[in-house]
Amino acid sequence: MSEKTEKEQKKKDAKKGELGGKAEKVINLCLRRGILFPTGEIYGSFAGFFDYGPVGVEMERNLEAAWWNHFVHSREDVVGIDGAIITHPTVWKASGHCDAFNDPLVECRKCKSRFRADQLIEDELKISVDGITLKQLDELIKEHKLVCPKCRSELSSSKVFNLMFKTHIGAVEDDSSLAFLRPETAQLIFVDFKTAQFVSRKQLPFGIAQIGKSFRNEIAPRNFVFRSREFSQMELEFFIHPTKVNNCPFLNKHVLETKINVCTAEMQAKGGMGEVVEMSVKELVEKNIVKTKWHAYWIVESLNWFHSLGIHPENLRIREHLKEELSHYSSETWDVEYNYPWGWKELEGIANRGDFDLKQHAKFSGKDLSYFDAEKGERVTPIVIEPSWGLERTLFTLLLDAFEEKVENGKAKLVLRLHPTIAPVRVGVFPLMKKDGLAEKAREVCESLKKEFACEYDEAGSIGKRYARMDEIGTPYCVTIDYDSLEKNTLTLRERDSAKQVVLPVKALKETLQKLFSGSISFSEAGKPVT
Ligand code: GLY
Repeated sequence: MSEKTEKEQKKKDAKKGELGGKAEKVINLCLRRGILFPTGEIYGSFAGFFDYGPVGVEMERNLEAAWWNHFVHSREDVVGIDGAIITHPTVWKASGHCDAFNDPLVECRKCKSRFRADQLIEDELKISVDGITLKQLDELIKEHKLVCPKCRSELSSSKVFNLMFKTHIGAVEDDSSLAFLRPETAQLIFVDFKTAQFVSRKQLPFGIAQIGKSFRNEIAPRNFVFRSREFSQMELEFFIHPTKVNNCPFLNKHVLETKINVCTAEMQAKGGMGEVVEMSVKELVEKNIVKTKWHAYWIVESLNWFHSLGIHPENLRIREHLKEELSHYSSETWDVEYNYPWGWKELEGIANRGDFDLKQHAKFSGKDLSYFDAEKGERVTPIVIEPSWGLERTLFTLLLDAFEEKVENGKAKLVLRLHPTIAPVRVGVFPLMKKDGLAEKAREVCESLKKEFACEYDEAGSIGKRYARMDEIGTPYCVTIDYDSLEKNTLTLRERDSAKQVVLPVKALKETLQKLFSGSISFSEAGKPVT
């Protein structure tokens, strides 16, 4: 690790456990504007569960729609499903979650508080202990004399804690009625593979996508929505013929030349956890750093999607999982990581699940889940590449990346430079004053846009305050109706990012906005500049 990178990492490490200035400000914004906030607040804390308010729910739906549009609707080779949250309990035995979906737990011998052993060690010793055994965790606790962070008493030895939420189905509450809330949406895709393939008539390679809630009984939910107990996943299982994992038609010259920030397992083994090197996709596949071409393709495609939503590319890297860190189903995983105020952390995981899941479900159900290769006249079990996103984590990251604080006339102003696709309001419409028919005219303009764009009418407070309210939730454009609007049928359009204004005819507004949102004109071409 270079000296500079090391210093930066240490600074971030020192902040580990707390969130750092910018993140705290984004969380404050989320709470103040009702984007996302802890659930059931009036009854006190209930850690790890969140509600979306009126502004947040629009962002949530926009993000879901943007993902579905990019990964399902825009492609011929992906279809969607929507599986049940509680499914047949044997699904979780077959998938390995009953046995292997665990975190290490330690308990204070005195105050009985419970902690995630690996997080406690990472917080105290500022080292990564991903994937190490319970015995090794206990040895570290003993060697460094780590104690209960709350009462400084001795800790128990580590034991496994299963993360699945349990419930009972029907009127009897015993082992026979035990069921689980799903800890990942992926398994519903695997058990529905045969049906989805049959009804959609898709041939390999093809993918099945799903968006929905998942539940994990985290020992220590933290960092706001970054690690919560109920969250939405956006997952895609891409099924590939087992002998064709390197036949990817999308890795053309342009894609191969794409440069990516990379942190390989080898770099991490040499102590460079915070290190990043730039590599081309060509290098990644030719040097066998990413083992299959389809995996490399889904990495690039994931990064492309983040870039299309405006995330600063320099804040993203891909990091290879160390062998010890791999999930029980994965032979190779790359995380897309974001450079959070508390260090590089997972934003999205892209795993090679091989044929593990389909074979396990075939074994446990006794049903044939293979695919008939008509060309060769044989049955094969497809290999799966899985890109998997947490929706709240993605949204929080978009907010963090778009957040800017600027000082204007001695006052701090917040601007969320959110991509218009995600913005909860796309156009704010204000009358300069409520009187003299301006309010009526502004409402008329707002009504004329509503079918096409999410609009908000606002007549309360000074124009400056109304702009500020819109800037901090990321509204890209605001329209003001003034006395010229009554006389000349014109309006003023303001751009969030530059705070510049132009004047244009009311009748040209809808088309101008369409052009601005599609990027076919720049703001200076939208009307006559207001000086
Ligand atoms: N399906 C992968 C995950 O939930 O992490």
